[in-house]
Amino acid sequence: MKDATTRTVRSLCLALTATLGLAGHARADAFPQRPITMVVPFAAGGPTDVIARIVAEHMSRSLGQQVVIENVTGAGGTTGITRASQAAPDGYTVMMGHMGTHGAAPALFKGLRYDPAKSFDPIGLAAGTPIVIVARKDFAAPDLKAFIAAVKSGGTSINQAHAGVGSVSHSTGILFDAKTGAKPTLVVYRGTGPALNDLMAGQVDFMTDQIVNVAPQITGGTIKAYAIATPERSTVLPDVPTTKEAGLDDYEVSAWNAVFAPKGLPKEVGAKLEAALGKALEDETTRKRILDLGGTVPGSGERGPAALQRLVESEVARWTPVLRAAADGTP
Ligand code: MLT
Repeated sequence: MKDATTRTVRSLCLALTATLGLAGHARADAFPQRPITMVVPFAAGGPTDVIARIVAEHMSRSLGQQVVIENVTGAGGTTGITRASQAAPDGYTVMMGHMGTHGAAPALFKGLRYDPAKSFDPIGLAAGTPIVIVARKDFAAPDLKAFIAAVKSGGTSINQAHAGVGSVSHSTGILFDAKTGAKPTLVVYRGTGPALNDLMAGQVDFMTDQIVNVAPQITGGTIKAYAIATPERSTVLPDVPTTKEAGLDDYEVSAWNAVFAPKGLPKEVGAKLEAALGKALEDETTRKRILDLGGTVPGSGERGPAALQRLVESEVARWTPVLRAAADGTP
Protein backbone atom coordinates (compact mmCIF):
# COMPACT_ATOMS: atom_id res chain seq x y z
CA MET A 1 0.00 0.00 0.00
CA LYS A 2 2.84 2.33 1.02
CA ASP A 3 4.68 1.73 -2.30
CA ALA A 4 1.57 2.53 -4.29
CA THR A 5 1.12 5.78 -2.35
CA THR A 6 4.78 6.68 -2.87
CA ARG A 7 4.45 6.01 -6.58
CA THR A 8 1.30 8.15 -6.74
CA VAL A 9 2.94 11.04 -4.88
CA ARG A 10 6.02 10.82 -7.10
CA SER A 11 3.87 10.80 -10.26
CA LEU A 12 1.93 13.81 -8.98
CA CYS A 13 5.18 15.66 -8.25
CA LEU A 14 6.51 14.89 -11.71
CA ALA A 15 3.24 16.02 -13.29
CA LEU A 16 3.27 19.24 -11.25
CA THR A 17 6.89 19.95 -12.18
CA ALA A 18 6.14 19.34 -15.83
CA THR A 19 3.06 21.57 -15.66
CA LEU A 20 4.94 24.38 -13.95
CA GLY A 21 7.77 23.99 -16.44
CA LEU A 22 5.37 24.11 -19.35
CA ALA A 23 3.60 27.11 -17.79
CA GLY A 24 6.92 28.91 -17.45
CA HIS A 25 7.82 27.99 -21.01
CA ALA A 26 4.42 29.17 -22.21
CA ARG A 27 4.90 32.46 -20.35
CA ALA A 28 8.32 32.94 -21.93
CA ASP A 29 6.87 32.02 -25.31
CA ALA A 30 4.12 34.62 -24.96
CA PHE A 31 6.55 37.34 -23.77
CA PRO A 32 5.94 40.25 -23.84
CA GLN A 33 2.30 40.49 -22.89
CA ARG A 34 2.48 44.00 -21.35
CA PRO A 35 4.71 47.10 -21.53
CA ILE A 36 8.38 46.79 -20.58
CA THR A 37 10.11 49.35 -18.33
CA MET A 38 13.59 50.50 -19.33
CA VAL A 39 15.20 52.23 -16.35
CA VAL A 40 17.45 55.14 -17.32
CA PRO A 41 19.57 56.01 -14.27
CA PHE A 42 20.06 59.67 -15.20
CA ALA A 43 17.84 62.69 -15.86
CA ALA A 44 15.81 62.98 -19.06
CA GLY A 45 17.57 64.71 -21.92
CA GLY A 46 21.08 63.45 -21.14
CA PRO A 47 23.16 61.03 -23.22
CA THR A 48 21.96 57.87 -21.51
CA ASP A 49 18.36 58.97 -21.91
CA VAL A 50 18.91 59.92 -25.56
CA ILE A 51 20.37 56.52 -26.49
CA ALA A 52 17.72 54.69 -24.47
CA ARG A 53 14.83 56.47 -26.18
CA ILE A 54 16.32 55.93 -29.63
CA VAL A 55 16.66 52.14 -29.23
CA ALA A 56 13.49 51.75 -27.12
CA GLU A 57 11.37 53.25 -29.89
CA HIS A 58 12.35 50.56 -32.37
CA MET A 59 12.35 47.77 -29.75
CA SER A 60 8.71 48.69 -28.95
CA ARG A 61 7.79 48.12 -32.57
CA SER A 62 9.51 44.78 -32.92
CA LEU A 63 8.36 43.46 -29.53
CA GLY A 64 4.80 44.64 -30.04
CA GLN A 65 4.71 46.18 -26.57
CA GLN A 66 5.74 49.66 -25.44
CA VAL A 67 9.25 49.93 -23.95
CA VAL A 68 8.62 52.72 -21.46
CA ILE A 69 11.55 54.84 -20.24
CA GLU A 70 11.64 55.47 -16.49
CA ASN A 71 14.27 57.96 -15.29
CA VAL A 72 15.44 56.92 -11.83
CA THR A 73 18.23 59.33 -10.91
CA GLY A 74 20.82 59.86 -8.19
CA ALA A 75 24.16 58.64 -6.91
CA GLY A 76 25.92 58.67 -10.26
CA GLY A 77 23.35 56.37 -11.81
CA THR A 78 23.70 53.68 -9.15
CA THR A 79 20.29 54.40 -7.60
CA GLY A 80 18.48 53.48 -10.79
CA ILE A 81 20.71 50.51 -11.57
CA THR A 82 20.33 49.17 -8.03
CA ARG A 83 16.55 49.51 -8.29
CA ALA A 84 16.50 47.73 -11.65
CA SER A 85 18.85 44.97 -10.41
CA GLN A 86 16.31 44.12 -7.69
CA ALA A 87 13.32 43.89 -10.08
CA ALA A 88 11.77 40.53 -11.00
CA PRO A 89 13.91 38.82 -13.67
CA ASP A 90 10.91 38.38 -16.00
CA GLY A 91 11.94 40.66 -18.85
CA TYR A 92 9.51 43.43 -17.93
CA THR A 93 12.27 45.51 -16.34
CA VAL A 94 15.50 46.27 -18.18
CA MET A 95 17.98 49.12 -17.81
CA MET A 96 20.32 51.26 -19.88
CA GLY A 97 23.69 51.08 -18.16
CA HIS A 98 27.05 52.32 -19.35
CA MET A 99 30.77 52.56 -18.82
CA GLY A 100 30.10 54.48 -15.59
CA THR A 101 27.44 52.36 -13.89
CA HIS A 102 28.90 49.05 -15.14
CA GLY A 103 32.61 49.92 -15.38
CA ALA A 104 33.81 52.83 -13.26
CA ALA A 105 31.35 52.74 -10.34
CA PRO A 106 33.00 49.92 -8.33
CA ALA A 107 36.24 51.92 -8.18
CA LEU A 108 34.61 55.11 -6.93
CA PHE A 109 31.40 54.16 -5.21
CA LYS A 110 31.76 52.81 -1.71
CA GLY A 111 29.03 50.35 -0.72
CA LEU A 112 27.86 49.69 -4.28
CA ARG A 113 24.81 47.43 -3.91
CA TYR A 114 25.35 45.49 -7.12
CA ASP A 115 28.22 43.79 -8.93
CA PRO A 116 28.35 44.89 -12.60
CA ALA A 117 29.69 41.48 -13.62
CA LYS A 118 27.38 39.29 -11.50
CA SER A 119 24.08 41.04 -10.75
CA PHE A 120 22.77 41.20 -14.31
CA ASP A 121 21.96 39.28 -17.45
CA PRO A 122 23.60 41.31 -20.25
CA ILE A 123 21.27 41.89 -23.20
CA GLY A 124 23.53 43.84 -25.54
CA LEU A 125 25.66 46.86 -26.34
CA ALA A 126 23.65 49.80 -27.74
CA ALA A 127 26.13 52.53 -28.68
CA GLY A 128 29.68 53.82 -28.34
CA THR A 129 29.92 57.43 -27.15
CA PRO A 130 33.26 59.27 -27.48
CA ILE A 131 34.08 61.86 -24.82
CA VAL A 132 34.38 65.58 -25.67
CA ILE A 133 35.93 68.31 -23.48
CA VAL A 134 33.38 71.13 -23.58
CA ALA A 135 33.26 74.57 -21.96
CA ARG A 136 30.93 77.55 -21.79
CA LYS A 137 31.01 79.38 -25.12
CA ASP A 138 32.71 82.54 -23.73
CA PHE A 139 35.57 80.69 -22.01
CA ALA A 140 38.54 82.87 -23.07
CA ALA A 141 41.11 80.16 -23.86
CA PRO A 142 41.65 79.84 -27.65
CA ASP A 143 42.77 76.17 -27.58
CA LEU A 144 43.13 73.12 -25.32
CA LYS A 145 46.60 74.02 -24.05
CA ALA A 146 45.45 77.50 -23.01
CA PHE A 147 42.25 75.98 -21.56
CA ILE A 148 44.23 73.57 -19.38
CA ALA A 149 46.49 76.42 -18.21
CA ALA A 150 43.45 78.55 -17.36
CA VAL A 151 41.72 75.71 -15.48
CA LYS A 152 44.89 74.96 -13.53
CA SER A 153 45.50 78.59 -12.62
CA GLY A 154 41.83 79.10 -11.80
CA GLY A 155 41.92 76.36 -9.17
CA THR A 156 38.66 75.95 -7.25
CA SER A 157 37.18 79.07 -8.87
CA ILE A 158 36.63 76.90 -11.95
CA ASN A 159 33.42 74.82 -11.83
CA GLN A 160 33.39 71.37 -13.48
CA ALA A 161 30.01 69.68 -13.98
CA HIS A 162 29.38 65.93 -13.69
CA ALA A 163 26.50 63.49 -13.14
CA GLY A 164 27.52 61.96 -9.84
CA VAL A 165 30.33 59.78 -8.45
CA GLY A 166 31.17 56.98 -10.86
CA SER A 167 29.23 58.46 -13.78
CA VAL A 168 30.93 58.81 -17.15
CA SER A 169 31.24 62.56 -16.81
CA HIS A 170 32.65 62.18 -13.29
CA SER A 171 35.12 59.38 -14.01
CA THR A 172 36.40 60.90 -17.25
CA GLY A 173 36.38 64.30 -15.52
CA ILE A 174 38.58 63.32 -12.59
CA LEU A 175 40.85 61.49 -15.03
CA PHE A 176 41.23 64.76 -16.99
CA ASP A 177 41.97 66.63 -13.76
CA ALA A 178 44.55 64.06 -12.68
CA LYS A 179 46.26 64.15 -16.11
CA THR A 180 46.37 67.96 -16.20
CA GLY A 181 46.87 68.78 -12.52
CA ALA A 182 43.63 70.80 -12.48
CA LYS A 183 41.82 71.12 -9.16
CA PRO A 184 38.40 72.62 -10.04
CA THR A 185 35.26 72.62 -7.92
CA LEU A 186 33.12 69.63 -8.91
CA VAL A 187 29.42 70.45 -9.36
CA VAL A 188 27.06 67.45 -9.36
CA TYR A 189 23.87 67.08 -11.42
CA ARG A 190 21.30 64.32 -11.85
CA GLY A 191 22.54 63.96 -15.40
CA THR A 192 24.53 65.83 -17.99
CA GLY A 193 21.30 66.95 -19.61
CA PRO A 194 20.68 69.44 -16.78
CA ALA A 195 24.45 70.09 -16.57
CA LEU A 196 24.46 71.08 -20.24
CA ASN A 197 21.70 73.61 -19.61
CA ASP A 198 23.87 75.27 -16.97
CA LEU A 199 26.92 75.11 -19.25
CA MET A 200 24.97 76.89 -21.99
CA ALA A 201 23.88 79.47 -19.43
CA GLY A 202 27.46 79.98 -18.27
CA GLN A 203 26.65 78.73 -14.74
CA VAL A 204 29.47 76.16 -14.88
CA ASP A 205 32.75 76.31 -16.78
CA PHE A 206 33.33 72.88 -18.35
CA MET A 207 32.74 69.15 -18.35
CA THR A 208 33.83 65.98 -20.10
CA ASP A 209 30.71 64.51 -21.66
CA GLN A 210 29.48 62.02 -24.20
CA ILE A 211 29.31 63.32 -27.76
CA VAL A 212 25.65 62.32 -28.23
CA ASN A 213 24.70 64.92 -25.61
CA VAL A 214 26.85 67.84 -26.72
CA ALA A 215 27.30 67.54 -30.50
CA PRO A 216 24.20 69.62 -31.44
CA GLN A 217 25.18 72.42 -29.02
CA ILE A 218 28.79 72.47 -30.28
CA THR A 219 27.57 72.68 -33.87
CA GLY A 220 25.08 75.37 -32.83
CA GLY A 221 27.79 77.40 -31.08
CA THR A 222 26.04 77.48 -27.67
CA ILE A 223 29.01 75.73 -26.06
CA LYS A 224 32.68 75.38 -27.01
CA ALA A 225 34.54 72.09 -27.66
CA TYR A 226 38.29 71.98 -27.03
CA ALA A 227 38.99 68.39 -28.04
CA ILE A 228 37.56 64.93 -28.55
CA ALA A 229 39.26 62.14 -26.61
CA THR A 230 39.48 59.64 -29.47
CA PRO A 231 42.37 58.69 -31.79
CA GLU A 232 40.51 60.11 -34.80
CA ARG A 233 38.27 63.18 -35.18
CA SER A 234 34.51 62.69 -35.34
CA THR A 235 32.89 63.15 -38.75
CA VAL A 236 30.10 64.96 -36.90
CA LEU A 237 32.58 67.45 -35.36
CA PRO A 238 35.28 67.70 -38.05
CA ASP A 239 36.72 70.95 -36.67
CA VAL A 240 37.22 69.61 -33.13
CA PRO A 241 40.80 68.34 -32.74
CA THR A 242 41.64 65.12 -30.99
CA THR A 243 43.25 65.47 -27.55
CA LYS A 244 46.52 64.26 -29.05
CA GLU A 245 46.41 66.85 -31.85
CA ALA A 246 45.60 69.51 -29.27
CA GLY A 247 48.63 68.62 -27.17
CA LEU A 248 47.16 66.38 -24.45
CA ASP A 249 48.72 62.93 -24.77
CA ASP A 250 47.43 59.87 -22.98
CA TYR A 251 43.83 61.09 -22.57
CA GLU A 252 41.77 58.91 -24.92
CA VAL A 253 38.45 57.82 -23.41
CA SER A 254 35.20 56.59 -24.91
CA ALA A 255 32.06 55.50 -23.13
CA TRP A 256 29.46 52.96 -24.17
CA ASN A 257 25.79 52.36 -23.40
CA ALA A 258 24.30 48.87 -22.99
CA VAL A 259 21.05 47.15 -22.04
CA PHE A 260 20.99 44.83 -19.00
CA ALA A 261 18.30 42.84 -17.20
CA PRO A 262 18.20 41.61 -13.60
CA LYS A 263 20.00 38.28 -13.12
CA GLY A 264 17.90 35.15 -13.69
CA LEU A 265 16.06 35.99 -16.90
CA PRO A 266 14.42 32.99 -18.68
CA LYS A 267 16.62 32.16 -21.67
CA GLU A 268 13.84 32.63 -24.22
CA VAL A 269 12.96 36.04 -22.78
CA GLY A 270 16.58 37.18 -22.91
CA ALA A 271 16.82 35.99 -26.50
CA LYS A 272 13.74 38.03 -27.47
CA LEU A 273 15.14 41.19 -25.86
CA GLU A 274 18.53 40.64 -27.50
CA ALA A 275 16.87 40.13 -30.89
CA ALA A 276 14.79 43.30 -30.50
CA LEU A 277 17.89 45.35 -29.63
CA GLY A 278 19.72 43.83 -32.59
CA LYS A 279 16.87 44.73 -34.95
CA ALA A 280 16.94 48.29 -33.66
CA LEU A 281 20.67 48.56 -34.36
CA GLU A 282 20.22 47.11 -37.85
CA ASP A 283 17.43 49.59 -38.65
CA GLU A 284 18.77 52.37 -40.91
CA THR A 285 16.74 55.15 -39.29
CA THR A 286 17.76 54.12 -35.77
CA ARG A 287 21.41 53.80 -36.77
CA LYS A 288 21.34 57.21 -38.43
CA ARG A 289 19.95 58.86 -35.28
CA ILE A 290 22.87 57.49 -33.23
CA LEU A 291 25.52 58.21 -35.90
CA ASP A 292 24.26 61.76 -36.53
CA LEU A 293 24.86 62.52 -32.83
CA GLY A 294 28.46 61.30 -33.13
CA GLY A 295 27.79 57.94 -31.52
CA THR A 296 28.99 54.64 -32.93
CA VAL A 297 26.83 51.57 -33.57
CA PRO A 298 28.40 48.27 -32.48
CA GLY A 299 28.53 45.53 -35.12
CA SER A 300 26.56 42.31 -34.63
CA GLY A 301 29.71 40.42 -33.63
CA GLU A 302 30.64 42.75 -30.78
CA ARG A 303 27.30 43.64 -29.19
CA GLY A 304 25.74 40.38 -27.94
CA PRO A 305 25.40 39.22 -24.30
CA ALA A 306 28.72 37.31 -24.21
CA ALA A 307 30.66 40.20 -25.73
CA LEU A 308 28.98 42.63 -23.33
CA GLN A 309 29.81 40.44 -20.33
CA ARG A 310 33.47 40.40 -21.41
CA LEU A 311 33.39 44.18 -21.88
CA VAL A 312 31.98 44.77 -18.39
CA GLU A 313 34.62 42.54 -16.80
CA SER A 314 37.43 44.21 -18.74
CA GLU A 315 36.16 47.74 -18.07
CA VAL A 316 35.90 47.16 -14.30
CA ALA A 317 39.43 45.74 -14.33
CA ARG A 318 40.71 48.63 -16.48
CA TRP A 319 39.10 51.54 -14.68
CA THR A 320 39.48 50.45 -11.05
CA PRO A 321 43.23 51.17 -10.65
CA VAL A 322 43.13 54.21 -12.95
CA LEU A 323 40.24 55.90 -11.17
CA ARG A 324 41.38 55.03 -7.66
CA ALA A 325 44.70 56.69 -8.49
CA ALA A 326 42.89 59.67 -10.05
CA ALA A 327 40.54 59.98 -7.10
CA ASP A 328 43.42 60.19 -4.64
CA GLY A 329 45.12 62.75 -6.86
CA THR A 330 48.05 60.74 -8.11
CA PRO A 331 48.29 61.30 -11.91
C1 MLT B 1 27.08 60.24 -17.15
O1 MLT B 1 27.52 59.16 -16.81
O2 MLT B 1 27.70 61.31 -17.09
C2 MLT B 1 25.71 60.20 -17.67
O3 MLT B 1 25.74 59.51 -18.88
C3 MLT B 1 25.08 61.49 -17.83
C4 MLT B 1 23.71 61.32 -18.35
O4 MLT B 1 23.40 60.35 -19.07
O5 MLT B 1 22.91 62.21 -18.04
